[in-house]
Amino acid sequence: MREPFYISTAISYPNGRPHIGHAYEAIAADAIARFQRQAGRDVLFQTGTDEHGLKMVQTARDRGVEVRDLASEMSSYFKAMCDNLNVSYDRFIQTTDADHHRASQAIWQAMANAGDLYLDRYEGWYSVRDEAFYDEKELIDGEGGKLSPQGTPVEWTAEETWFFRLSKYQQPLLELYRDNPDFIRPESRRNEIMRFVEGGLTDLSVSRTSFDWGVAVPGSPGHVMYVWVDALTNYLTGVGYPDGEMKYWPADLHLIGKDIVRFHAVYWPAFLMSAGIASPKSVFGHGFLLHRGEKMSKSLGNVVDPGDLATAFGVDALRYFLLREVSFGQDGSYSAEAIVMRVNAELANSFGNLAQRTLSFIAKNLDGELPVDGRRDVADGQLIEEVIVAAAGFKSAFEDLMLSQGIEAWLRGVFACNQYIDAQAPWALRKTDPDRMNAVLGTLVRAIRILAIVILPVVPEAAGKVLDQLGAAERDHAAVDDDDWYARHAASDFRLAAPSPMFPRLELPAEAA
Ligand code: MSP
Repeated sequence: MREPFYISTAISYPNGRPHIGHAYEAIAADAIARFQRQAGRDVLFQTGTDEHGLKMVQTARDRGVEVRDLASEMSSYFKAMCDNLNVSYDRFIQTTDADHHRASQAIWQAMANAGDLYLDRYEGWYSVRDEAFYDEKELIDGEGGKLSPQGTPVEWTAEETWFFRLSKYQQPLLELYRDNPDFIRPESRRNEIMRFVEGGLTDLSVSRTSFDWGVAVPGSPGHVMYVWVDALTNYLTGVGYPDGEMKYWPADLHLIGKDIVRFHAVYWPAFLMSAGIASPKSVFGHGFLLHRGEKMSKSLGNVVDPGDLATAFGVDALRYFLLREVSFGQDGSYSAEAIVMRVNAELANSFGNLAQRTLSFIAKNLDGELPVDGRRDVADGQLIEEVIVAAAGFKSAFEDLMLSQGIEAWLRGVFACNQYIDAQAPWALRKTDPDRMNAVLGTLVRAIRILAIVILPVVPEAAGKVLDQLGAAERDHAAVDDDDWYARHAASDFRLAAPSPMFPRLELPAEAA
Protein backbone atom coordinates (compact mmCIF):
# COMPACT_ATOMS: atom_id res chain seq x y z
CA MET A 1 0.00 0.00 0.00
CA ARG A 2 1.39 3.39 -0.96
CA GLU A 3 1.63 5.81 1.92
CA PRO A 4 -0.74 8.80 1.59
CA PHE A 5 0.60 12.33 1.32
CA TYR A 6 -1.83 15.23 1.62
CA ILE A 7 -0.70 18.70 0.61
CA SER A 8 -2.83 21.84 0.35
CA THR A 9 -2.37 25.47 -0.56
CA ALA A 10 -4.32 28.25 1.09
CA ILE A 11 -7.64 28.80 -0.61
CA SER A 12 -7.63 32.27 -2.15
CA TYR A 13 -10.20 35.03 -1.76
CA PRO A 14 -11.77 35.41 -5.19
CA ASN A 15 -12.49 39.11 -4.66
CA GLY A 16 -10.25 39.91 -7.62
CA ARG A 17 -8.18 38.10 -10.19
CA PRO A 18 -5.20 35.97 -9.18
CA HIS A 19 -1.81 37.63 -9.00
CA ILE A 20 1.71 36.30 -9.09
CA GLY A 21 1.74 35.66 -5.32
CA HIS A 22 -1.10 33.17 -5.76
CA ALA A 23 0.71 31.59 -8.69
CA TYR A 24 3.86 31.26 -6.62
CA GLU A 25 2.12 29.31 -3.87
CA ALA A 26 0.32 27.04 -6.35
CA ILE A 27 3.53 26.31 -8.25
CA ALA A 28 5.50 25.53 -5.09
CA ALA A 29 2.79 23.18 -3.85
CA ASP A 30 2.61 21.55 -7.26
CA ALA A 31 6.35 20.89 -7.39
CA ILE A 32 6.17 19.27 -3.95
CA ALA A 33 3.13 17.19 -4.94
CA ARG A 34 4.83 15.98 -8.11
CA PHE A 35 8.00 15.18 -6.17
CA GLN A 36 6.05 13.10 -3.65
CA ARG A 37 4.29 11.23 -6.45
CA GLN A 38 7.71 10.39 -7.89
CA ALA A 39 8.69 9.12 -4.45
CA GLY A 40 5.79 6.67 -4.71
CA ARG A 41 3.41 8.40 -2.30
CA ASP A 42 -0.34 8.34 -2.83
CA VAL A 43 -0.78 12.12 -3.12
CA LEU A 44 -3.87 14.24 -2.52
CA PHE A 45 -3.25 17.83 -3.57
CA GLN A 46 -5.97 20.38 -2.89
CA THR A 47 -6.30 24.04 -3.77
CA GLY A 48 -9.28 26.31 -4.34
CA THR A 49 -11.13 29.48 -3.38
CA ASP A 50 -12.41 30.94 -0.09
CA GLU A 51 -15.67 32.53 -1.12
CA HIS A 52 -17.46 33.66 2.04
CA GLY A 53 -16.83 36.56 4.39
CA LEU A 54 -17.36 40.28 4.58
CA LYS A 55 -14.62 41.11 2.10
CA MET A 56 -16.50 39.25 -0.63
CA VAL A 57 -19.78 40.89 0.39
CA GLN A 58 -18.27 44.37 0.27
CA THR A 59 -16.45 43.82 -3.03
CA ALA A 60 -19.65 42.57 -4.65
CA ARG A 61 -21.55 45.56 -3.30
CA ASP A 62 -18.91 47.98 -4.64
CA ARG A 63 -19.10 46.36 -8.06
CA GLY A 64 -22.88 46.19 -8.05
CA VAL A 65 -22.99 42.42 -8.58
CA GLU A 66 -24.35 39.48 -6.61
CA VAL A 67 -21.74 38.04 -4.30
CA ARG A 68 -22.41 34.53 -5.59
CA ASP A 69 -21.77 35.67 -9.16
CA LEU A 70 -18.60 37.51 -8.17
CA ALA A 71 -17.33 34.41 -6.38
CA SER A 72 -18.04 32.02 -9.19
CA GLU A 73 -16.63 34.27 -11.91
CA MET A 74 -13.40 35.08 -10.03
CA SER A 75 -13.01 31.52 -8.81
CA SER A 76 -12.98 30.37 -12.42
CA TYR A 77 -9.92 32.60 -13.05
CA PHE A 78 -8.06 30.96 -10.18
CA LYS A 79 -8.85 27.55 -11.55
CA ALA A 80 -7.81 28.62 -15.04
CA MET A 81 -4.54 29.96 -13.59
CA CYS A 82 -3.80 26.57 -12.04
CA ASP A 83 -4.61 24.73 -15.25
CA ASN A 84 -2.52 27.13 -17.27
CA LEU A 85 0.48 26.73 -14.94
CA ASN A 86 0.32 22.93 -15.03
CA VAL A 87 -0.72 22.75 -11.37
CA SER A 88 -1.74 19.12 -10.87
CA TYR A 89 -4.37 19.55 -8.14
CA ASP A 90 -6.64 16.63 -7.36
CA ARG A 91 -9.44 18.87 -6.17
CA PHE A 92 -10.14 22.53 -6.71
CA ILE A 93 -12.45 23.23 -3.81
CA GLN A 94 -14.89 26.12 -3.59
CA THR A 95 -16.23 26.89 -0.16
CA THR A 96 -19.67 27.27 -1.73
CA ASP A 97 -19.61 23.52 -2.52
CA ALA A 98 -22.39 21.60 -0.79
CA ASP A 99 -20.09 19.01 0.83
CA HIS A 100 -18.06 21.86 2.29
CA HIS A 101 -21.10 23.33 4.02
CA ARG A 102 -21.81 19.88 5.47
CA ALA A 103 -18.23 19.48 6.73
CA SER A 104 -18.23 22.97 8.29
CA GLN A 105 -21.49 22.32 10.11
CA ALA A 106 -20.17 18.99 11.33
CA ILE A 107 -17.01 20.47 12.87
CA TRP A 108 -19.11 23.25 14.38
CA GLN A 109 -21.39 20.68 15.97
CA ALA A 110 -18.38 18.76 17.30
CA MET A 111 -16.97 21.93 18.89
CA ALA A 112 -20.41 22.69 20.38
CA ASN A 113 -20.63 19.14 21.75
CA ALA A 114 -17.26 19.66 23.43
CA GLY A 115 -18.75 22.65 25.25
CA ASP A 116 -16.41 25.07 23.49
CA LEU A 117 -18.98 27.43 21.95
CA TYR A 118 -21.03 30.05 23.82
CA LEU A 119 -23.08 33.12 22.91
CA ASP A 120 -21.86 36.54 23.97
CA ARG A 121 -21.46 40.05 22.71
CA TYR A 122 -18.35 40.84 20.64
CA GLU A 123 -16.91 44.33 20.76
CA GLY A 124 -13.56 44.93 19.18
CA TRP A 125 -11.46 45.60 16.11
CA TYR A 126 -11.88 43.80 12.81
CA SER A 127 -9.92 44.05 9.60
CA VAL A 128 -12.09 43.21 6.60
CA ARG A 129 -9.02 42.98 4.37
CA ASP A 130 -7.49 40.30 6.62
CA GLU A 131 -10.87 38.95 7.80
CA ALA A 132 -9.27 39.02 11.24
CA PHE A 133 -9.99 40.20 14.76
CA TYR A 134 -7.21 42.08 16.51
CA ASP A 135 -6.54 42.98 20.06
CA GLU A 136 -6.24 46.68 20.84
CA LYS A 137 -2.62 46.14 21.92
CA GLU A 138 -1.66 44.67 18.52
CA LEU A 139 -2.74 47.72 16.52
CA ILE A 140 -0.30 50.23 15.10
CA ASP A 141 -0.85 53.92 14.39
CA GLY A 142 -1.13 54.67 10.69
CA GLU A 143 -1.90 57.73 8.58
CA GLY A 144 -5.67 57.45 8.58
CA GLY A 145 -5.93 56.02 12.11
CA LYS A 146 -5.34 52.62 13.63
CA LEU A 147 -4.04 49.79 11.46
CA SER A 148 -3.71 46.04 11.92
CA PRO A 149 -0.24 44.55 12.36
CA GLN A 150 -0.44 43.75 8.61
CA GLY A 151 -1.00 47.43 7.89
CA THR A 152 -4.64 47.03 6.89
CA PRO A 153 -7.52 49.27 8.07
CA VAL A 154 -9.56 48.11 11.07
CA GLU A 155 -13.09 48.95 12.08
CA TRP A 156 -14.87 48.78 15.42
CA THR A 157 -17.41 45.95 15.48
CA ALA A 158 -20.09 45.18 18.03
CA GLU A 159 -22.60 42.36 17.70
CA GLU A 160 -23.91 39.28 19.41
CA THR A 161 -21.87 36.29 18.26
CA TRP A 162 -20.84 32.78 19.12
CA PHE A 163 -17.48 32.48 20.82
CA PHE A 164 -14.96 29.66 20.69
CA ARG A 165 -13.07 28.90 23.92
CA LEU A 166 -9.64 29.49 22.41
CA SER A 167 -8.21 30.40 25.82
CA LYS A 168 -8.72 26.81 26.93
CA TYR A 169 -6.23 25.63 24.28
CA GLN A 170 -3.22 27.71 25.23
CA GLN A 171 -1.43 24.87 27.03
CA PRO A 172 -2.43 22.12 24.57
CA LEU A 173 -1.15 24.29 21.71
CA LEU A 174 2.17 24.95 23.42
CA GLU A 175 2.51 21.21 23.96
CA LEU A 176 1.73 20.56 20.31
CA TYR A 177 4.52 22.95 19.26
CA ARG A 178 6.93 21.49 21.80
CA ASP A 179 6.29 17.88 20.81
CA ASN A 180 6.31 18.57 17.06
CA PRO A 181 9.17 20.89 16.21
CA ASP A 182 8.23 20.64 12.51
CA PHE A 183 4.62 21.64 13.07
CA ILE A 184 5.38 25.26 12.15
CA ARG A 185 8.10 26.01 9.66
CA PRO A 186 10.31 27.84 9.02
CA GLU A 187 11.81 28.31 12.47
CA SER A 188 11.29 32.09 12.53
CA ARG A 189 7.52 31.69 12.17
CA ARG A 190 7.50 29.02 14.82
CA ASN A 191 9.10 31.42 17.26
CA GLU A 192 6.63 34.18 16.38
CA ILE A 193 3.68 31.88 17.01
CA MET A 194 5.05 30.51 20.27
CA ARG A 195 5.53 34.06 21.59
CA PHE A 196 1.98 34.92 20.56
CA VAL A 197 0.44 31.90 22.28
CA GLU A 198 2.62 32.28 25.38
CA GLY A 199 1.27 35.83 25.62
CA GLY A 200 -2.19 34.38 26.36
CA LEU A 201 -5.18 33.66 24.13
CA THR A 202 -8.58 35.30 24.30
CA ASP A 203 -11.73 33.54 23.15
CA LEU A 204 -12.49 33.98 19.48
CA SER A 205 -15.66 35.36 17.93
CA VAL A 206 -16.74 32.70 15.41
CA SER A 207 -20.05 33.84 13.98
CA ARG A 208 -21.50 36.96 12.39
CA THR A 209 -25.05 38.33 12.34
CA SER A 210 -24.67 41.52 10.30
CA PHE A 211 -24.70 39.68 6.94
CA ASP A 212 -25.83 36.28 5.72
CA TRP A 213 -23.20 35.24 3.15
CA GLY A 214 -21.56 32.20 4.69
CA VAL A 215 -22.17 28.79 6.18
CA ALA A 216 -25.26 28.81 8.42
CA VAL A 217 -24.57 28.07 12.08
CA PRO A 218 -26.53 24.91 12.89
CA GLY A 219 -29.54 25.60 15.10
CA SER A 220 -28.82 29.34 15.34
CA PRO A 221 -30.89 31.31 12.82
CA GLY A 222 -29.34 34.62 11.78
CA HIS A 223 -25.76 33.49 12.42
CA VAL A 224 -23.25 32.60 9.73
CA MET A 225 -19.84 31.21 10.60
CA TYR A 226 -16.83 33.50 10.82
CA VAL A 227 -15.19 33.00 7.43
CA TRP A 228 -11.99 31.47 8.82
CA VAL A 229 -13.92 28.69 10.57
CA ASP A 230 -15.31 27.46 7.30
CA ALA A 231 -12.19 28.35 5.29
CA LEU A 232 -9.89 26.21 7.43
CA THR A 233 -12.39 23.38 7.34
CA ASN A 234 -11.83 23.08 3.58
CA TYR A 235 -8.87 20.86 4.41
CA LEU A 236 -11.23 18.38 6.06
CA THR A 237 -13.88 18.62 3.37
CA GLY A 238 -11.24 17.42 0.93
CA VAL A 239 -10.71 14.17 2.83
CA GLY A 240 -14.39 13.37 3.10
CA TYR A 241 -15.11 14.64 6.62
CA PRO A 242 -17.42 13.82 8.35
CA ASP A 243 -18.61 10.63 6.60
CA GLY A 244 -15.64 9.50 4.51
CA GLU A 245 -12.77 7.21 5.49
CA MET A 246 -10.36 10.17 5.81
CA LYS A 247 -7.37 8.11 4.74
CA TYR A 248 -5.42 11.28 3.82
CA TRP A 249 -5.83 12.83 7.27
CA PRO A 250 -3.86 14.21 9.09
CA ALA A 251 -2.58 16.41 6.29
CA ASP A 252 1.16 16.23 5.73
CA LEU A 253 1.58 19.85 4.72
CA HIS A 254 -0.51 23.01 4.67
CA LEU A 255 1.46 25.36 2.45
CA ILE A 256 0.50 28.98 3.08
CA GLY A 257 1.92 32.50 3.08
CA LYS A 258 3.53 34.07 6.13
CA ASP A 259 0.59 36.44 6.69
CA ILE A 260 -1.83 33.66 7.63
CA VAL A 261 0.29 31.46 9.86
CA ARG A 262 -1.65 32.45 12.98
CA PHE A 263 -4.90 31.07 11.57
CA HIS A 264 -3.26 27.79 10.60
CA ALA A 265 -0.99 27.25 13.56
CA VAL A 266 -3.21 28.56 16.37
CA TYR A 267 -6.91 28.63 15.51
CA TRP A 268 -6.91 25.56 13.26
CA PRO A 269 -5.29 23.03 15.63
CA ALA A 270 -7.43 24.43 18.46
CA PHE A 271 -10.63 23.83 16.47
CA LEU A 272 -9.41 20.34 15.63
CA MET A 273 -8.50 19.49 19.21
CA SER A 274 -11.92 20.66 20.30
CA ALA A 275 -13.59 18.48 17.66
CA GLY A 276 -11.40 15.50 18.58
CA ILE A 277 -9.60 15.41 15.22
CA ALA A 278 -5.83 15.04 14.78
CA SER A 279 -3.80 18.15 13.91
CA PRO A 280 -2.02 18.42 10.57
CA LYS A 281 1.61 17.33 10.60
CA SER A 282 3.05 20.55 9.31
CA VAL A 283 2.29 24.14 8.36
CA PHE A 284 4.84 25.95 6.21
CA GLY A 285 4.61 29.74 5.87
CA HIS A 286 6.42 30.81 2.70
CA GLY A 287 7.58 34.36 2.10
CA PHE A 288 6.05 37.06 -0.05
CA LEU A 289 6.85 37.71 -3.63
CA LEU A 290 7.71 41.32 -4.29
CA HIS A 291 7.82 43.17 -7.58
CA ARG A 292 11.31 44.63 -7.99
CA GLY A 293 11.59 44.57 -4.22
CA GLU A 294 8.30 46.40 -3.66
CA LYS A 295 5.02 45.15 -2.30
CA MET A 296 2.47 44.60 -5.06
CA SER A 297 -0.57 46.80 -4.82
CA LYS A 298 -3.31 48.10 -7.05
CA SER A 299 -2.37 51.70 -6.27
CA LEU A 300 1.25 51.16 -7.33
CA GLY A 301 -0.04 49.52 -10.50
CA ASN A 302 2.51 46.70 -10.23
CA VAL A 303 0.11 43.78 -9.83
CA VAL A 304 1.13 41.29 -12.48
CA ASP A 305 -1.18 38.72 -14.02
CA PRO A 306 0.62 35.37 -13.87
CA GLY A 307 -0.98 34.45 -17.19
CA ASP A 308 0.84 37.36 -18.87
CA LEU A 309 4.18 36.24 -17.44
CA ALA A 310 3.55 32.68 -18.56
CA THR A 311 2.69 33.92 -22.05
CA ALA A 312 5.75 36.13 -22.20
CA PHE A 313 8.28 33.62 -20.88
CA GLY A 314 6.66 30.18 -20.91
CA VAL A 315 5.12 28.19 -18.09
CA ASP A 316 8.20 26.11 -17.31
CA ALA A 317 10.47 29.15 -17.35
CA LEU A 318 8.21 30.94 -14.87
CA ARG A 319 7.98 27.88 -12.62
CA TYR A 320 11.74 27.37 -12.70
CA PHE A 321 12.45 31.01 -11.95
CA LEU A 322 10.11 31.26 -8.97
CA LEU A 323 11.30 28.07 -7.30
CA ARG A 324 14.96 28.71 -8.01
CA GLU A 325 15.20 32.45 -7.35
CA VAL A 326 13.45 32.56 -3.99
CA SER A 327 14.92 30.80 -1.00
CA PHE A 328 11.79 28.97 0.15
CA GLY A 329 10.44 30.57 3.31
CA GLN A 330 11.97 33.99 2.63
CA ASP A 331 10.57 36.90 0.65
CA GLY A 332 11.75 37.13 -2.93
CA SER A 333 11.65 39.56 -5.77
CA TYR A 334 10.95 39.18 -9.45
CA SER A 335 11.35 41.25 -12.56
CA ALA A 336 11.43 40.50 -16.27
CA GLU A 337 15.23 40.95 -16.31
CA ALA A 338 15.75 38.53 -13.46
CA ILE A 339 13.56 35.90 -15.14
CA VAL A 340 15.38 36.20 -18.45
CA MET A 341 18.81 36.08 -16.84
CA ARG A 342 18.15 33.11 -14.61
CA VAL A 343 16.33 31.04 -17.20
CA ASN A 344 18.84 31.65 -19.96
CA ALA A 345 21.84 30.91 -17.79
CA GLU A 346 20.54 27.80 -16.10
CA LEU A 347 17.86 26.26 -18.28
CA ALA A 348 18.48 27.33 -21.86
CA ASN A 349 22.27 27.57 -21.93
CA SER A 350 23.02 24.80 -19.47
CA PHE A 351 20.51 21.95 -19.37
CA GLY A 352 18.67 22.80 -22.59
CA ASN A 353 21.86 23.12 -24.55
CA LEU A 354 23.27 19.91 -23.10
CA ALA A 355 20.19 17.90 -24.05
CA GLN A 356 19.76 19.55 -27.42
CA ARG A 357 23.39 19.12 -28.49
CA THR A 358 23.59 15.51 -27.38
CA LEU A 359 20.29 14.31 -28.77
CA SER A 360 20.58 16.08 -32.09
CA PHE A 361 24.12 14.76 -32.53
CA ILE A 362 22.89 11.21 -32.05
CA ALA A 363 19.90 11.78 -34.31
CA LYS A 364 22.04 13.24 -37.03
CA ASN A 365 25.21 11.18 -36.92
CA LEU A 366 24.11 7.81 -35.60
CA ASP A 367 20.72 7.66 -37.28
CA GLY A 368 19.19 8.06 -33.85
CA GLU A 369 20.64 4.79 -32.63
CA LEU A 370 21.88 4.78 -29.04
CA PRO A 371 25.45 3.48 -29.03
CA VAL A 372 25.65 0.10 -27.29
CA ASP A 373 29.33 -0.20 -26.68
CA GLY A 374 32.45 1.91 -26.88
CA ARG A 375 35.68 2.37 -25.02
CA ARG A 376 35.05 3.37 -21.42
CA ASP A 377 37.11 5.77 -19.36
CA VAL A 378 37.15 6.60 -15.65
CA ALA A 379 35.73 10.03 -16.53
CA ASP A 380 32.47 8.30 -17.53
CA GLY A 381 31.95 6.68 -14.16
CA GLN A 382 32.92 9.91 -12.44
CA LEU A 383 30.31 11.87 -14.34
CA ILE A 384 27.55 9.38 -13.53
CA GLU A 385 28.64 9.53 -9.90
CA GLU A 386 28.37 13.34 -9.88
CA VAL A 387 24.93 13.15 -11.45
CA ILE A 388 23.78 10.64 -8.85
CA VAL A 389 25.08 12.90 -6.08
CA ALA A 390 23.17 15.79 -7.68
CA ALA A 391 19.98 13.72 -7.78
CA ALA A 392 20.38 12.74 -4.14
CA GLY A 393 21.04 16.38 -3.21
CA PHE A 394 17.86 17.46 -4.95
CA LYS A 395 15.89 14.76 -3.21
CA SER A 396 17.02 15.45 0.31
CA ALA A 397 16.61 19.22 -0.14
CA PHE A 398 13.07 18.78 -1.51
CA GLU A 399 12.17 16.52 1.38
CA ASP A 400 13.14 19.42 3.67
CA LEU A 401 11.28 21.96 1.50
CA MET A 402 14.55 23.62 0.56
CA LEU A 403 13.41 23.98 -3.01
CA SER A 404 15.98 26.41 -4.33
CA GLN A 405 18.86 24.48 -2.78
CA GLY A 406 17.48 21.32 -4.38
CA ILE A 407 17.56 22.92 -7.81
CA GLU A 408 21.06 24.17 -7.09
CA ALA A 409 22.19 20.62 -6.36
CA TRP A 410 20.65 19.52 -9.66
CA LEU A 411 22.50 22.31 -11.47
CA ARG A 412 25.79 20.97 -10.18
CA GLY A 413 25.00 17.78 -12.07
CA VAL A 414 24.20 19.78 -15.20
CA PHE A 415 27.45 21.75 -14.94
CA ALA A 416 29.39 18.52 -14.48
CA CYS A 417 27.91 17.25 -17.76
CA ASN A 418 28.88 20.42 -19.57
CA GLN A 419 32.44 20.17 -18.31
CA TYR A 420 32.52 16.54 -19.38
CA ILE A 421 31.35 17.43 -22.89
CA ASP A 422 33.97 20.13 -23.20
CA ALA A 423 36.70 17.79 -21.97
CA GLN A 424 35.63 14.77 -24.03
CA ALA A 425 34.63 16.71 -27.16
CA PRO A 426 32.53 13.92 -28.69
CA TRP A 427 32.00 15.95 -31.89
CA ALA A 428 35.72 15.81 -32.57
CA LEU A 429 35.91 12.10 -31.74
CA ARG A 430 33.53 11.24 -34.55
CA LYS A 431 36.38 11.16 -37.06
CA THR A 432 39.31 10.37 -34.78
CA ASP A 433 37.98 7.81 -32.29
CA PRO A 434 34.37 6.67 -32.88
CA ASP A 435 34.73 3.92 -30.31
CA ARG A 436 35.41 6.45 -27.57
CA MET A 437 32.70 8.73 -28.95
CA ASN A 438 30.15 5.96 -28.47
CA ALA A 439 31.00 5.60 -24.79
CA VAL A 440 30.85 9.37 -24.26
CA LEU A 441 27.44 9.69 -25.91
CA GLY A 442 26.08 6.74 -23.98
CA THR A 443 27.28 8.30 -20.73
CA LEU A 444 25.65 11.61 -21.63
CA VAL A 445 22.32 9.99 -22.43
CA ARG A 446 22.38 8.20 -19.08
CA ALA A 447 23.17 11.47 -17.29
CA ILE A 448 20.56 13.50 -19.18
CA ARG A 449 17.85 10.97 -18.42
CA ILE A 450 18.56 11.11 -14.69
CA LEU A 451 18.73 14.91 -14.65
CA ALA A 452 15.46 15.19 -16.60
CA ILE A 453 13.63 12.88 -14.20
CA VAL A 454 14.96 14.81 -11.22
CA ILE A 455 13.83 18.21 -12.51
CA LEU A 456 10.37 17.02 -13.66
CA PRO A 457 8.51 18.44 -10.64
CA VAL A 458 9.87 21.90 -11.45
CA VAL A 459 9.57 21.97 -15.25
CA PRO A 460 7.15 19.13 -16.03
CA GLU A 461 6.53 19.94 -19.65
CA ALA A 462 10.06 20.56 -20.88
CA ALA A 463 11.68 17.79 -18.86
CA GLY A 464 8.86 15.49 -19.95
CA LYS A 465 9.68 16.28 -23.58
CA VAL A 466 13.34 15.38 -23.06
CA LEU A 467 12.26 12.05 -21.60
CA ASP A 468 9.76 11.49 -24.42
CA GLN A 469 12.50 12.06 -26.97
CA LEU A 470 14.75 9.63 -25.12
CA GLY A 471 11.93 7.11 -25.01
CA ALA A 472 12.28 6.95 -21.21
CA ALA A 473 8.89 5.82 -19.92
CA GLU A 474 9.54 5.41 -16.18
CA ARG A 475 9.91 8.72 -14.39
CA ASP A 476 9.82 8.11 -10.67
CA HIS A 477 12.64 7.86 -8.15
CA ALA A 478 12.98 4.14 -8.76
CA ALA A 479 13.77 4.94 -12.40
CA VAL A 480 16.67 7.14 -11.28
CA ASP A 481 18.14 4.13 -9.49
CA ASP A 482 17.59 1.79 -12.44
CA ASP A 483 21.22 1.36 -13.60
CA ASP A 484 20.35 -1.05 -16.38
CA TRP A 485 17.97 1.23 -18.17
CA TYR A 486 20.50 2.38 -20.71
CA ALA A 487 21.76 -1.06 -21.64
CA ARG A 488 18.22 -2.38 -22.09
CA HIS A 489 17.07 0.64 -24.02
CA ALA A 490 20.09 0.78 -26.34
CA ALA A 491 19.61 -2.92 -27.15
CA SER A 492 15.99 -2.32 -28.15
CA ASP A 493 14.99 -0.99 -31.56
CA PHE A 494 14.41 2.51 -30.19
CA ARG A 495 15.52 5.38 -32.45
CA LEU A 496 15.96 9.00 -31.38
CA ALA A 497 14.21 11.49 -33.65
CA ALA A 498 15.71 14.93 -34.29
CA PRO A 499 14.79 16.87 -31.13
CA SER A 500 12.76 20.04 -31.14
CA PRO A 501 14.12 22.73 -28.77
CA MET A 502 12.77 22.24 -25.23
CA PHE A 503 14.27 25.14 -23.31
CA PRO A 504 14.20 28.17 -25.61
CA ARG A 505 16.37 31.18 -24.88
CA LEU A 506 14.31 34.11 -23.63
CA GLU A 507 14.41 37.66 -24.92
CA LEU A 508 13.60 40.63 -22.74
CA PRO A 509 10.18 41.95 -23.88
CA ALA A 510 10.48 45.39 -25.49
CA GLU A 511 8.53 47.25 -22.81
CA ALA A 512 10.69 45.81 -19.99
CA ALA A 513 13.95 46.60 -21.79
N1 MSP B 1 -8.51 33.10 2.01
C1 MSP B 1 -7.35 33.21 2.84
C2 MSP B 1 -6.71 31.86 3.07
C3 MSP B 1 -7.62 30.82 3.66
S1 MSP B 1 -6.80 29.29 3.85
C4 MSP B 1 -7.85 28.35 4.73
C5 MSP B 1 -6.35 34.12 2.15
N2 MSP B 1 -6.53 34.32 0.84
S2 MSP B 1 -5.58 35.26 -0.08
O1 MSP B 1 -6.15 35.22 -1.40
O2 MSP B 1 -5.43 36.54 0.52
O3 MSP B 1 -4.17 34.60 -0.08
C6 MSP B 1 -4.00 33.30 -0.57
C7 MSP B 1 -2.55 32.86 -0.40
O4 MSP B 1 -1.70 33.67 -1.21
C8 MSP B 1 -2.06 33.02 1.04
O5 MSP B 1 -1.29 31.91 1.43
C9 MSP B 1 -1.20 34.26 0.97
O6 MSP B 1 -0.17 34.29 1.91
C10 MSP B 1 -0.63 34.13 -0.43
N3 MSP B 1 -0.15 35.40 -0.94
C11 MSP B 1 -0.87 36.55 -1.12
N4 MSP B 1 -0.03 37.50 -1.59
C12 MSP B 1 1.22 37.00 -1.74
C13 MSP B 1 2.43 37.47 -2.27
N5 MSP B 1 2.60 38.71 -2.69
N6 MSP B 1 3.46 36.60 -2.34
C14 MSP B 1 3.32 35.28 -1.98
N7 MSP B 1 2.20 34.81 -1.50
C15 MSP B 1 1.17 35.67 -1.25
O7 MSP B 1 -5.43 34.59 2.80
